[in-house]
Amino acid sequence: MKDRSKWGTNAGFLLAAIGSAIGLGNIWRFPYVAYENGGGAFLIPYFVALFTAGIPILMLEFALGHHREASAPKAFRHIDAKWEWLGWWAVTFVMFGISLYYIVIMGWCANYMVFSLNCAWGEDPNTFFFDEFLGMSGNKDVWQIGGISWPIATAVAVIWLINWIIAYGGIEKGIERAVKIMMPVLFLITAVIIVWALFLPGAQKGIKHYVTPDFNKITDLKVWIAAYGQIFFSLSLGFGIMIAYSSYLSREANIFKNSLIVGFSNSMYEVFAGFGVFAILGYMATRQSQEIKEVVSSGIGLAFVAYPKAISLLPSGSYFGFLFFLLLIIAGISSSISIIEAFTSAILDKFALARKKVITVICLLGFFGSLVFTTHVGLLWLDIVDHFLNQYGLITVGIVEALIVGWIYRTDKLKAHIVSNLGLSGTRHKIFDYVILQLWMYCIRFITPVALGIAIIHSLIGEFAEPYSDYPVSGVIILGVGWLLVTHIFAFGLSGLPWRGGPPR
Ligand code: PHE
Repeated sequence: MKDRSKWGTNAGFLLAAIGSAIGLGNIWRFPYVAYENGGGAFLIPYFVALFTAGIPILMLEFALGHHREASAPKAFRHIDAKWEWLGWWAVTFVMFGISLYYIVIMGWCANYMVFSLNCAWGEDPNTFFFDEFLGMSGNKDVWQIGGISWPIATAVAVIWLINWIIAYGGIEKGIERAVKIMMPVLFLITAVIIVWALFLPGAQKGIKHYVTPDFNKITDLKVWIAAYGQIFFSLSLGFGIMIAYSSYLSREANIFKNSLIVGFSNSMYEVFAGFGVFAILGYMATRQSQEIKEVVSSGIGLAFVAYPKAISLLPSGSYFGFLFFLLLIIAGISSSISIIEAFTSAILDKFALARKKVITVICLLGFFGSLVFTTHVGLLWLDIVDHFLNQYGLITVGIVEALIVGWIYRTDKLKAHIVSNLGLSGTRHKIFDYVILQLWMYCIRFITPVALGIAIIHSLIGEFAEPYSDYPVSGVIILGVGWLLVTHIFAFGLSGLPWRGGPPR
């Protein structure tokens, strides 16, 4: 068999992993989640979640991929052949689920980048976005599909093409080269936007709402669930991505250090991004003599309704808007490319096909899959699918992964692997082995499965209380539950196929 691809440098790997972690979630989700869940006080559950689940699972995924030099299905198969499907499921629902609509959102951003130039949304960005741009009829009937929107589909084609070009180049010459350009640009644009925002009148008012701690909130279970959920999604855990990325590391790589760097960089980025987001909201509220709570929003509402309003108000707003949407696109591409790689590496490991052909087929399938989300009901569909994949798919993989590695594989083998490259000796070696890695093991065996288990039960109860977000029940079941089931069956199918060249050890 050919040698497995490799990153040129450890820094290249770090940029790619940080690029995967930093995505739309850091910019448009975290600030709002923090604000809703206690402002500054949210940092307490958030950092507890980072230390007890985020970094431990990240380290688990890095160590597993690196130790076995394998993508998720192959790595889980090593633990026990009956777990191969789990790896396939993770890479399948993220590739043929999340990436499909994630790229459609980037297609919207590309359109909005151009709209920013003359504030094409006019006086009423809300009506413009939902009615004119998406062509939604205003109701929640997910079966009134309508036609494909060509401006969106065209942008989606371009974004898939960019992903294809990057992935086609391979690990070192494709992804590594791309993130070495994209990530510095991403940090630079973020810095420009934050500084710009901080000097606007009213910025302080917004920031005050973002950071003012409400300590009463941290006794609320919901706040803790939000913290674990945010950490998990934001670090791209439970998707097989970090397993694939670390499988391309050189044998000497330091897994412990890499996990800390990726974990902290991602969190620092989102905490800082929040200052920019709330400074702008503060400015908007001040200009319109409103309260922060009237202008605050997250996700799609923030990017495509609230921000356009702010951009129209801002002096030189067009430049600001252009930079903001460009930032979302760059953050998005460095994440979508990691999804494509997680799936590709799994296919290559199992079927030993030619990389370039695999990438081309996957990107074409991906493009056609994305078209499903470019119709008039695209937003409704992506909202439902996203809810189910994130609340159930990703969390299930996280729980099972922690349990099988913690209890069946035993973390001892991974512990030994992590320690081997640290270059420690004597007492320091002992402290590391008996204290730090012991704590790590407890997090994986107990804290992560319990925390994620509570989160999933909580979501399930909510599901039965009322259909998700008032959609017709048929839509929720067919799209949401259906997507989970179909990807599951697909994953089982893939894990049942024979390994080219015989099953791995
Ligand atoms: N971690 C990314 C974010 O915070 C999202 C992501 C999802 C990345 C799925 C890769 C795969 O937005």
